[in-house]
This record gives sequence, C-alpha cells and structure tokens, in this order.
Amino acid sequence: DKVVLAYSGGLDTSVILKWIQKTYDCEVIAFTADLGQEEELDGLEKKALSTGASKAYIEDLQQEFVTDFIQPMFRAAAVYEGRYLLGTSIARPLIAKRMAEIALAEGAQAVAHGATGKGNDQVRFELSTMALAPSLRIIAPWREWDLHSRTELLEFARQNNIPVPVSQEKMYSCDRNLLHLSFEGSELEDPWLEPEKGSYHLAVPPEQAPDEPEVITLGFEKGNPVSINGAEMDPVQLFKRLITLGGRHGIGRLDMVENRFIGMKSRGVYETPGGTILYAAHRDLEGLCLDRESLHARNEMVPGYARLVYNGFWFSPEREAMQAMMDKIQENVTGEVRLKLYKGGIYPLGRRSSLSLYNPELATFEADQVYNQQDAAGFIRLQGLRLMSVNKVRK
Ligand code: ARG
Ligand code: SIN
Repeated sequence: DKVVLAYSGGLDTSVILKWIQKTYDCEVIAFTADLGQEEELDGLEKKALSTGASKAYIEDLQQEFVTDFIQPMFRAAAVYEGRYLLGTSIARPLIAKRMAEIALAEGAQAVAHGATGKGNDQVRFELSTMALAPSLRIIAPWREWDLHSRTELLEFARQNNIPVPVSQEKMYSCDRNLLHLSFEGSELEDPWLEPEKGSYHLAVPPEQAPDEPEVITLGFEKGNPVSINGAEMDPVQLFKRLITLGGRHGIGRLDMVENRFIGMKSRGVYETPGGTILYAAHRDLEGLCLDRESLHARNEMVPGYARLVYNGFWFSPEREAMQAMMDKIQENVTGEVRLKLYKGGIYPLGRRSSLSLYNPELATFEADQVYNQQDAAGFIRLQGLRLMSVNKVRK
C-alpha cells in the first residue's frame, strides 16, 4: 500500500510520516509544494528520505499558485471577516490538487495531511480532495492517534530518531507562502497579549520603517497586477517584489480574532506585505474603472466568496460561478495606480486608465454642456416621494 503525505519537514509531519508507516504498514511518499516558503525547503528531500519516505516530491508550484489561485482571489477582492486576506486558505486547495494527482499517478490509495482536528486546514485539504479525486482515502493522524500532547509527540519523535528542535523558544504554528506568513498558538492564545518580537518576519514594525516614504506605481490588466514602476514582470517576481517593498515599510500586519469554520474562535497574527499593497491598489483602480452597479454588486458578493475560500470550497460549482462573474467585471480594470508607502500605511496618490469611466466633463464644477442641473430637481423629487408618505403616516 502507498500513501502520499503533504510533508513540510517540520516536527509534526515528520512524526506523522513515521506514524503512518508504522500504523498502516505502508509505503509513504512525501510531497512538498514550494509555494514560496523560502528557507524552509533547504535539505528537505534528504530529511524526508532519512525519516523513512520511499520517495520525495518537492515541486515548485509558485507560478500556478500565483496565476490560478492568488490572482483569481484578488480579482474577487476577497477578504474574510473584513480583514483577513486568506493567505493560508488559498494555498490549501493547490496542495491538495497536486497531492491527489501524485497519488493517482503513483497508484496510492490514500493521501494524508498534518492538519489538526480543530482547524480549518483539515477541511480545506479534504474538501478539495473529495472534489477532485473522490476515490482517495484521507488519513488525518491528528484525529486518529493517541499522542495527546506536545510532550507525547516529542517522546514519539525521540523514540523514532526524528530530530527534535532543541531551543525552548516560542513555538508558533506558522504557515508561509508567497502571499503571507501566519502565526498562531504560543503566547498568542491569550488575545489580550501583544505578540512578541519573534513574530515579525516579513515586515518591520512600522516604527522601524524608513522615515522617507517610497512612491511606487502598480500597473493592472483586467484586474491582475502586471508591472511595478512601469516595468512588466513575471507574476511570481512581481509578488516577491511587492513583499519586499511592503516589508521594508512595515505594511500588512494584521492581528485578529477570527471565526474558524469548525466553530471556534482563534487568534492569528498575519504578515501580508505584498497582498496588502495589491489589495489597496486594486481597490483604488476599481474606483476609476468600474461602473457603479457592477462595483456594488461585486462588493455584495465579496463576503460570500471569501467565506467559500476560507471554508475550503475553492473547488465548488458556486465558487466557480462567482469567479466567472468577478472576472467579467474585472475586464475593465486596466490601468495604473501611484501609491505612497510610509510606516505601515499605503496612500494612493493618483490613478489613470485608458478605460476610465471618470468623466471630467460631467464632474466639473465649471459650466458644462452635457449635464442639465434642472434635471436633478425632478430626480430628487421622485426619490423623496415615498419619504414624504412615510412622514405623513408617522405624524
Ligand atoms: N487561521 C488561518 C486560516 O485558517 C491560518 C491557518 C494557519 N495554518 C497553519 N497550519 N499554521 O486560514
Ligand atoms: C491546524 O489546526 O492544523 C492549523 C490551524 C487551522 O487549520 O485552522
């Protein structure tokens, strides 16, 4: 028998690798998606094989991650509970997709993941797998084994010669990719406690950001970012550049208590320096390019769309249908936004577009030919008709 495991090389998935091998008496194939987590990938293949994997796949999926997942989600201006830019949520369906493909190609019967039974990630991995490869069994060791604490996990690791981190430093549960870095657990479990300095990684604290602002111009085509300061860039490079820019200026840190799908609240700290710039710039350009009713209809759909992504329904017919509408609306979002980055803040300075709907002839306070001010009197009169009826009845 064969199982494909979503393997990160951390303590948990190393223990899981060994545990599956022992419990199910099967071959374990390790799969790691490179989604831009950088240094965490060093030495991973060797580590997987020495922990007992029969084979290790480490695949660079950054291009696909940006073009088929991050970009569509940003075209939809998705934010969960008004704040979270969904950096972890959007990565799970891609990992599950590629893992299922490998499992089918390898003739494996099951896939496995290291998400706990208390979180969102288990739901996202499993719903994605069910949508794409329903024949595969799913193994979730955190829900199955009798290792009930960190201490028992460490004990299992020691007994099985799995290297255990020596430092007694804060052990956050982290998840990093091109879009963000998340921190949960440790002292953050007290929502009143301020996060420690160790949770600043991608972005400097705003007070340490340069005293000089930096002005950048971000170019868009059909809702996708395509250039920085006039230079067209490959989507992955563009994202990395945005992270550096945002990070330097202390942009994109979020500390919030959120509602997990499975019903509990959790406190998370996020660093999304690039995504936060992108979101602000995109929104700003939409102001210029989108028809009022299209923009409003889209805005009303955002919370529902974001909930689908957060809850793990990326590969669902309703997300796909919403996406089609989002993308249709974005056909008009082409142009440039000029922004100032300064000590954690993003300040739009200007925007322009060949598809701009802004009509200076209409908006001007100067005399004009197109707009007849007398028309407004009747317009307001009719809008107010029912307000007058209500007033009469209330009296
Ligand atoms: N709370 C965030 C979310 O549900 C982040 C989850 C982080 N996951 C992790 N395995 N550390 O999207
Ligand atoms: C986990 O529980 O594995 C991480 C957090 C989450 O999935 O929400």
